[in-house]
Amino acid sequence: MPHLILAPLRGFTDGVFRNAFQRHFGGIIEAVAPFVTSIKGRRIKPSHLADLMPEDNPQLPVVPQILSNHGEDFICLANALVDLGYTEINWNLGCPYPMVAKKKRGSGLLPFPEEIDRLLEIICRGFSGKLSVKTRLGRFSADELESLIPIFNRYPLERIIIHPRTGVQMYDGRVDLSAFAHYLPQLAHPVVYNGDIHHPLTFTSLMAQFPGVAAWMLGRGLLANPFLAEMIQGGGAPVENRRQRFAAFHADLVAGYSERFYGPGHVLDRMKGFWGYFSSGVMNGRRMRKRVHKISRLDRYLDAVAVWIEDEASWLT
Ligand SMILES: Cc1cc2nc3c(=O)[nH]c(=O)nc-3n(C[C@H](O)[C@H](O)[C@H](O)COP(=O)(O)O)c2cc1C
Repeated sequence: MPHLILAPLRGFTDGVFRNAFQRHFGGIIEAVAPFVTSIKGRRIKPSHLADLMPEDNPQLPVVPQILSNHGEDFICLANALVDLGYTEINWNLGCPYPMVAKKKRGSGLLPFPEEIDRLLEIICRGFSGKLSVKTRLGRFSADELESLIPIFNRYPLERIIIHPRTGVQMYDGRVDLSAFAHYLPQLAHPVVYNGDIHHPLTFTSLMAQFPGVAAWMLGRGLLANPFLAEMIQGGGAPVENRRQRFAAFHADLVAGYSERFYGPGHVLDRMKGFWGYFSSGVMNGRRMRKRVHKISRLDRYLDAVAVWIEDEASWLT
């Protein structure tokens, strides 16, 4: 059975989503949570880790992720997460957003191998939990990983998750599979592939091309079609009761965010955000997305979604 991991998408795959997803769909074995940033100084407020409290994450094993370019601050936050019961911590070396990258964080660190080496040295000496990294091919160019691989290979990493784009590509353009094929055999640690898996056939093709990959991470493809992981695991078996299952999942999301956010407007905004993804996995999704975006009240939104599920909902795969 392929090892499928839910990708971290900040603003989407938080605890509410992870729990609701796992209650209604199958196929995902674990999740990497969206990043939390390391904090200067030594005091970590509980609110900083609110989405990672173990009692709120009962459904799916979670690997927390840290965005940091400071060794001691990383260790401090990682240790606080280990104290909560987590065993593996993921280091974000891929975030492409200019605000992050310009501060030499996320993919912004990739052009500085000696800095990454220095940070890994500090972190691996001071942090006794398991450490993994999630990275891209580089910030500006796919060549950058070349000089990073010997560094990664020297440290006891649990695994390395690779999204084969550069940082400046953001999420656009194609994933660079030939660069991925070039790097894969050089990496000493288990490799997780991540990027643009939107269909079971894409998955089958990638698995055939890269038998050395240890696990697969699904992000936007799974948000667009929450049945995707099940379909991959099911090897072509039909998925039953999609409408009812999506309706129950959607109701759980709304209930979860209604508990978490103050006021229906915030819940509506969050749900509208999800339609950016939901709409790309369904028939006539653009139309439904536009309809949803015009709505300004949560009760009207819920009515519109109920009607859509009853009359129209049909997934592309
Ligand atoms: C809105 C959004 C938020 C994201 N947040 C994170 C994050 O917090 N940490 C991270 O490592 N990657 C983050 N990513 C990147 C995804 O985890 C993933 O690498 C990327 O979407 C490519 O995989 P996919 O094609 O399966 O979606 C984010 C991506 C998007 C679109």
